[in-house]
Amino acid sequence: MLDEQLRKLEEEACSWGDTVHYATVPPIFKKCNGSFLWDTKNQKYLDWQMWYSACSFGYRNEFITKALKKQIDELPQLACQYLHKERILLSKEIVDITSRTVGLDGRVQFNVGGSSAVEDAIKLARNYTHKQLAFAYYGGYHGRTLGATAVTSSARYRKNYGHFGDRAIFIPYPYCFYCFYDMKPENCNLYCAKMFEKMFETEYFSVVDKKSDPEPGLIIFEAIQGTGGYAKPPEGYFKKVAEVCRKHNILMIDDEIQMGFFRTGRMWSIEHYGITPDIIVFGKALTNGMNPISGIIGKKELMAHDIWGPSMTHCTFSSNPLGTACGLAVMDLIKHENFAEKADHIGEYLTKQLKEFETEYPIIGYVDNIGAAIRVEITHPDGRTPNREACNRIFNRGLTPNIKSSNGKTYGLILDQGGWYKSTFTIAPNLYSTDDELDLGVELFEKIVKKVSDDLE
Ligand SMILES: Cc1ncc(COP(=O)(O)O)c(C=O)c1O
Repeated sequence: MLDEQLRKLEEEACSWGDTVHYATVPPIFKKCNGSFLWDTKNQKYLDWQMWYSACSFGYRNEFITKALKKQIDELPQLACQYLHKERILLSKEIVDITSRTVGLDGRVQFNVGGSSAVEDAIKLARNYTHKQLAFAYYGGYHGRTLGATAVTSSARYRKNYGHFGDRAIFIPYPYCFYCFYDMKPENCNLYCAKMFEKMFETEYFSVVDKKSDPEPGLIIFEAIQGTGGYAKPPEGYFKKVAEVCRKHNILMIDDEIQMGFFRTGRMWSIEHYGITPDIIVFGKALTNGMNPISGIIGKKELMAHDIWGPSMTHCTFSSNPLGTACGLAVMDLIKHENFAEKADHIGEYLTKQLKEFETEYPIIGYVDNIGAAIRVEITHPDGRTPNREACNRIFNRGLTPNIKSSNGKTYGLILDQGGWYKSTFTIAPNLYSTDDELDLGVELFEKIVKKVSDDLE
């Protein structure tokens, strides 16, 4: 069937309520491998976002595919009310690595999809604290189910769905490039963390009264915001926030759905900040995008069997054997390969080259990275004002697969737009990328940036 026919059918049969139509002309893909996708015309695209890091370990990773095939032949289906080996072993792997890396001694449970796991985390915290309210961050993204939307900052995601009575109290995230308080990290002395602390000073700031714990019982955060733009909070920030939370009995939920599994060069991105959260939420790369499952790990006291007992949550497909088998294969890969080193190399290698564009192209405002999470701020020539128009053009140009490389072949480049102003490229390459693939990406990106810069002049 021709693309044109498929597009016509899509218009007729498919809802546009998801995110496909962010692109002016969404390509139709038929094949993937490693760092690349191919469309129906066999045109090749280098992927610099890998399904928002759900496929961090490369498309069609052979090791994971093998585990999936084995599971298909043995026990592909089982109601989540029964036990199977992979479910138990995967939980144990996550328990061990989380204890070792962030000192959280906990228990694990699964779900399907990140938003549902976020909801489970919120329920777990509410069940323990018996409190309904939450703190969450400007720019934070935790999903689109109703509960997850209540702690996701974008007003656009809420506006059509009525009143969110338990909407979080949103506070500024330390996205220093676009500091909410217009300060500079060199001399702000963690002003935003201090403002958070100040909220607890008097009952008239609406959070706490002197005689009792505050109304909010949890704070949900991404140690590195994914959709929010891969910004790096400054050293010491989360320590200060943790101090305030401990003092006021506020549970800390660390959403690692996008940044977990070595995107930032660590199993959990919160490892960069030396604090121990109470609950970690994970998803995406847990199965490398194959038969997706998600989950939470919560401290043992929150998940004591008599406090958090049978049927506190349920999802028919939560710990399905195909998903747990893929998850176990991913944990096996993590044990045997040095993804910390791989991610750090990718980040440094790309950032060094992309940083040169800051001076060469006025629309490239700032480039930075944490492991293999690289961000490029697209700005006006002042180097600061967000330039969404240029960002949109670069994104759409990348989806047109006729960018000529010096190797004589043509490619597209898959990019993702994020950040508070949708003017940030959040670059997340395959963690197995070769240097040649990284060089190819830089070459394609520069060609697009040059073309868009010329067009805008
Ligand atoms: C940090 C974070 N939390 C939650 C979610 C929601 O996950 P899902 O789309 O699987 O529901 C996402 C998805 O992008 C995410 O990046």
